[in-house]
Amino acid sequence: MNQPYILSFPPIGDASLGFLSVAQQLSDVPFEIARVYWTYYTPQDVTRGGHANIDKELVLVAVAGTITVTTEMQDGHKHTFVLDHPSQGLYLPKLCWHTMQYSENAVQMVIASNLYSEDDYIRDYSLFKSWQ
Ligand code: TYD
Repeated sequence: MNQPYILSFPPIGDASLGFLSVAQQLSDVPFEIARVYWTYYTPQDVTRGGHANIDKELVLVAVAGTITVTTEMQDGHKHTFVLDHPSQGLYLPKLCWHTMQYSENAVQMVIASNLYSEDDYIRDYSLFKSWQ
């Protein structure tokens, strides 16, 4: 599906022990995983993102706290997602403009389909809208 959507990482365990969630490539996550990174200590008045990736799919997970993600596809479809539980994730397809804002102490894990390359980023919104 060439739109962002919420993924589920079902919790394993119970309230007495705590929980564990799994993100396995090509099942829980709809691509082969190339890279995982995480962001933390982001001030609450900061908006991160503000870019699209040409050839990279992502899954964002709020492993702690709450993350508000806005998305826009080139066809103009816009969505706002609130990630507020570590058992959910947000799939972002290629060429999906996105921004993220974070609650206090939020930690965002990003699962990526490709290795990091700055050449893969479109950081100019009007270029994103006209990119073919
Ligand atoms: P960026 O992907 O723009 O972060 P966000 O989407 O959270 O705003 O990356 C922020 C900076 O980190 C940017 O200068 C590129 C650099 N970076 C790396 O050096 N390696 C990486 O694997 C990633 C993802 C980013």
